[in-house]
Amino acid sequence: MIKNCRNVKIIGTGSYIPKKVLTNDDLEKIVDTSNEWIIARTGISERHLAEDNETTSDLSSKAALKALKDANIEPKEIDLIIVATNSPDMVFPATACLVQEKIKAVNAATFDLQAGCTGFVYALIVAWQFISAGFYNNALIIGAETLSKFVDWTDRNTCVLFGDGAGAVILKAKEEKGILSGYLGGDGSKADMIMLPAGLSKNPASHETIEKRMHYVKMKGNEVFKNAVKSMKRSTIKALEKCNLSVKDVDCFIPHQANIRIILVVLKVLGIKKDKVFINLDKYGNTSAASVAIALDEAVKEGKIKNNNIVVLTSFGAGLTYGSIVFRWNK
Ligand code: COA
Repeated sequence: MIKNCRNVKIIGTGSYIPKKVLTNDDLEKIVDTSNEWIIARTGISERHLAEDNETTSDLSSKAALKALKDANIEPKEIDLIIVATNSPDMVFPATACLVQEKIKAVNAATFDLQAGCTGFVYALIVAWQFISAGFYNNALIIGAETLSKFVDWTDRNTCVLFGDGAGAVILKAKEEKGILSGYLGGDGSKADMIMLPAGLSKNPASHETIEKRMHYVKMKGNEVFKNAVKSMKRSTIKALEKCNLSVKDVDCFIPHQANIRIILVVLKVLGIKKDKVFINLDKYGNTSAASVAIALDEAVKEGKIKNNNIVVLTSFGAGLTYGSIVFRWNK
């Protein structure tokens, strides 16, 4: 049982989606696919892509400024920034440092967190511990991706799935309880299921890595699918158990927006009714670490989450990683 010292809650949310849209019809002109196949197998109709000169820190900063405004808090009041991403601007410095400069959050500690598509859930739980322990007071947590720059646009198995975007929240120490519980997991024995193999210490960039297209996302889709269902079920149940709740108590369930078929199976195995789930993957595809962050912001703004609601965010991704967080919404 976690012994937290201070209560922590989300006091603001924001998101930013790049303007450029790539529809399934557009994809038909790039690879051997069809609108019908993509909709039937994934539920995705379109996705948004960053411009060539638009980076993950740009998307992050725009989402962050919206979350700050929503929380009615100044950038200089933020004392921690974590950017969860798998597509940082550069290997170093951390994208969080670039965001700090862009939004002028001059008093913030800054680091990136890489945990596949589960990164935002990991980052929320890390920041929760910092604030709960009294180490920081106000944290800006961002999930952001420009994975379109790392997707192989000749590989129909992956390029139809991903999109770009960013979501952000502000966490603050408060008297009343917001975050109730969380559960994180990992399984490195399945590391080869989703990877971007080259460009770092294992396979430094070379003519060979470029010729073999090793700088792009590689994925074993079917195997990921099966593990996604198991791991989201496991972490949701574990996180709810830790705060003495059950799936019956959940008012809004926000799963990683990877594939509508995965989401429907997860709902079925958990026994969660369809009217409790928030889905926006038809518009954005899989935005990886940004996915549940964007969905949370949209669910709040669309009035799908009301005061006192119990909300669960759950995700899975490269690693394999998985995790869930449970909170009571009382902004
Ligand atoms: N358009 C048309 N056909 C396609 C296609 C596309 N974009 N992508 C794959 N296919 C073909 C395959 O080549 C295969 O053809 P074959 O039977 O002639 O070999 C057929 O469709 C079925 O492929 P399969 O991989 O079995 O499809 P699927 O139903 O498992 O769907 C995914 C593929 C990738 C959509 C699905 O496995 C998935 O979503 N997995 C999880 C991926 C994920 O969430 N990744 C991110 C993790 S964070």
